[in-house]
Amino acid sequence: MASYGNNFTDELRTRLSIVDVVGRRVPLVKKGQNFWGCCPFHNEKTPSFSVNEEKGFYHCFGCGEHGDIISFTMKTNNMEFRDALKELANLAGVKMPDYKPKSATQIAAEESYTTICETATRMYQTALFTDAGAHALAYIRGRGFSDEMIKKYRIGYAPRGNIITNKFSGTKQNAVMATGLCRRGEYGLYDFFRDKLMFPIINVHGAVVAFSGRSLDGSEPKYINTTDTEMFHKRQTMFGLNFARDAIYRANRSIIVEGQIDAIRMQTNGFPETVAPLGTALTEDHLAMLCKSNRNITFCFDGDNAGQKAAARAADLMMPFLRDTSDVRFAFVTGGKDPDEVLKSGGVDAMRKIIDGATPLVEFLWDTLNKTFLASTPGGRASAEKYLKKEIEKIKDPDLRREYDAEFKNRIFHAWHRTRPNATHVPVPAADDITIKNIQGILSTYPDIAERYGDFLVTMNIPDISQSAPCPFSHNDAEKYIVTLKIKRYLTQLEKQKKDLTASLLIGQDVQDQINKINAEMMRIQDKLDALIQL
Ligand code: UTP
Ligand code: MN
Repeated sequence: MASYGNNFTDELRTRLSIVDVVGRRVPLVKKGQNFWGCCPFHNEKTPSFSVNEEKGFYHCFGCGEHGDIISFTMKTNNMEFRDALKELANLAGVKMPDYKPKSATQIAAEESYTTICETATRMYQTALFTDAGAHALAYIRGRGFSDEMIKKYRIGYAPRGNIITNKFSGTKQNAVMATGLCRRGEYGLYDFFRDKLMFPIINVHGAVVAFSGRSLDGSEPKYINTTDTEMFHKRQTMFGLNFARDAIYRANRSIIVEGQIDAIRMQTNGFPETVAPLGTALTEDHLAMLCKSNRNITFCFDGDNAGQKAAARAADLMMPFLRDTSDVRFAFVTGGKDPDEVLKSGGVDAMRKIIDGATPLVEFLWDTLNKTFLASTPGGRASAEKYLKKEIEKIKDPDLRREYDAEFKNRIFHAWHRTRPNATHVPVPAADDITIKNIQGILSTYPDIAERYGDFLVTMNIPDISQSAPCPFSHNDAEKYIVTLKIKRYLTQLEKQKKDLTASLLIGQDVQDQINKINAEMMRIQDKLDALIQL
């Protein structure tokens, strides 16, 4: 059958999320592993149409319709295959390739490519355990790699000289050059990797398609990778994804680190869901690939300036992929270390602390904003808001975009405007005797509540709790009691601000917008309080 070659349809399936494609027509809600909506192919009121992101399929339990992004586009638009591809290519922002079937020569070329890479991998693996590779073996063992790890990741050694060139001299010259393992120089072909510790790069089908070679004598660059070939595109390759795929599904998240040794050490030390980009910064393609499994990603960067910058870039790339269920976080490894070094010095626990303590995206954006811009000046605030606007506009889901917008407006209002020089500082209202007694009882009975609301409680100036009476509240009511107090305090503060603003209004300052905002906020908070009391 004449076709576009699996390459292009695969590329579309990789780049586009079926939930996004279907979601453009059918509102979907996530329940369990799948997304659900009302079937566009038959009339129904209760959703029996399910979409599975991981598998890239939709299925209707009502009418039995079933397919992928391509059949969905064909059926819902009444389109031919070719037009559906065009539509999807448009959506993915990629160019449609020329219509040409995958030829027998092309198929043969791909087969010979993977065969050559496989042979090379074995030759490198063997060389690692020969005299010529002794220093490479000593090096990798010195970095804490067991023989089991060496075997699993198929680590090898490319000796000095031309072992690959020699093996494939003769009729295979063009084929071996296509793999990037050999190049043509003035004196004929030569091996690209020499005296390197070799890490095969394995695609998700399990085939070696490229290599990353680490220098062993301290020479720069530290790593050289196969330059892009027909079968290997650096910008679309995640090191370790072949091993991590199932784990990413099971853990319902992925971790991205910066280097391949880090990825291996993470995978073998309790974080099998870890991958690394290859000798390049993170790209949109990398994220699109990971987001096929789920949209929960923990990025792990160095704690230095470069790491902060890389993280901001990752956040920027991530924005279009966000859904309301996405859990995106940023972990920073401090002290000039990388995950490999943390695992070595502090073990799995130290690393787990870093990963568990990762900053959620919203907090990260907020931190970045406050670190990067001078919020104490109008100019700084304006630049900050522009940056924020640009990021938020990238979110595709309109509801989520609105929520992000509201969240940051709220933060900006509270953090930047309320504390400006002429802002009101609200004194803490004095607590009455009964309130103090109740809080003392709660504090001495429920240490977890004391811990959780500590920041708030210290502002209440509660005297010593050592000889307080037993608490009259259940745990649930105790927590409700504290939250109610907190909300009431906030309402008092809002009221005070409103009064002050009303006074400014009288002297001709244009603060009506701020007053409206406070009114809206007060109504929202009052509703919250009412709901809480009724619970
Ligand atoms: P690093 O310089 O942080 O190296 O580069 P690393 O992973 O900690 O290396 P080790 O631990 O000293 O062996 C991070 C990643 O950037 C790419 C590689 O993929 C590397 O893993 N890189 C780095 C290159 O491609 N070329 C280089 O010259 C350096
Ligand atoms: Mn390292």
